Amino acid sequence: MIYYFSGTGNSYAAAKTLAEGLGEDLMDISVAAKENNYTHTLAEGEKLGFVFPVYAWAPPRVVTEFVKNLELYYSGDPYIFAVCTCGSSAGKTMDIFEKALEENGLMLDSGFSVIMPDNCITLFEPDSAEEVAEKFEKAEQTLDNILRAVKLGWSDFFRVKRGRFSTVLSGIANPAFTLGGMKTKPFYVTDACIGCGLCEYHCTSGCIEMTAGRPVWTEDQCHMCLACINRCPAQAIQYGKKTANRGRYVHPIYQTEENGEMTE
Ligand SMILES: Cc1cc2nc3c(=O)[nH]c(=O)nc-3n(C[C@H](O)[C@H](O)[C@H](O)COP(=O)(O)O)c2cc1C
Ligand code: SF4
Ligand code: SF4
Repeated sequence: MIYYFSGTGNSYAAAKTLAEGLGEDLMDISVAAKENNYTHTLAEGEKLGFVFPVYAWAPPRVVTEFVKNLELYYSGDPYIFAVCTCGSSAGKTMDIFEKALEENGLMLDSGFSVIMPDNCITLFEPDSAEEVAEKFEKAEQTLDNILRAVKLGWSDFFRVKRGRFSTVLSGIANPAFTLGGMKTKPFYVTDACIGCGLCEYHCTSGCIEMTAGRPVWTEDQCHMCLACINRCPAQAIQYGKKTANRGRYVHPIYQTEENGEMTE
């Protein structure tokens, strides 16, 4: 089983490649958490993987909460691996993830990072088309290597790009993000909105409700996956003062596979 969390498709695309390569099923953590579905029984030889983005040099809180609550049934010694996708550096993301697993009595055998386009448009301009193409090319190679390592069951094997100042960034900047950076208040919708409801449909925390044809953020904090702002087909969602003239980022797998259509 591969559990994944994804706002704009990078982690989903990586998880799908790994699931296909390993012959494992895929499960969306945001859906499982909304449905209170924390139970899984591992078949003999089944590998357990987790794929998720890096948020402020740590795993998304929804992911660590999920693994702490996971009720896993298995016999023997299951192989467990994790992959984080990030724009440039993961800091101590994998150490934090490993600790969350250990709190649930589970051991991480291997951990990896994959550099992908940065989707954090509330803070930065998205990567240029050239940067995106270059990152995708390298990511494909990295995923091939991960697949090989996981198939061979390499244990105590970690390849994570931590970057500089990882202790400070994961230890100080991340708690600051958790306290103040996950607020929904700066989100607003402009007259460009066509009332399609896709933001409500894609919201990983389920905190957007369509009211009188417009999205309303119903919670003070959310997962900050940035699916709503990046995936709005009319570019009608903004966050604070900086996003109006910024581009948006969505992985091609979300553009082609779902084509922005609601499926239920
Ligand atoms: C709130 C937020 C914080 C982020 N923090 C980091 C970070 O600390 N380091 C980094 O390299 N990328 C960071 N990113 C970029 C994402 O980790 C990266 O684009 C990831 O691949 C997105 O995955 P997704 O498309 O599956 O949602 C951040 C993105 C968001 C939305
Ligand atoms: S996705 Fe964009 S256009 Fe569609 S309802 Fe939401 S804000 Fe409006
Ligand atoms: S409100 Fe937007 S950023 Fe927050 S969880 Fe929902 S889709 Fe993600």
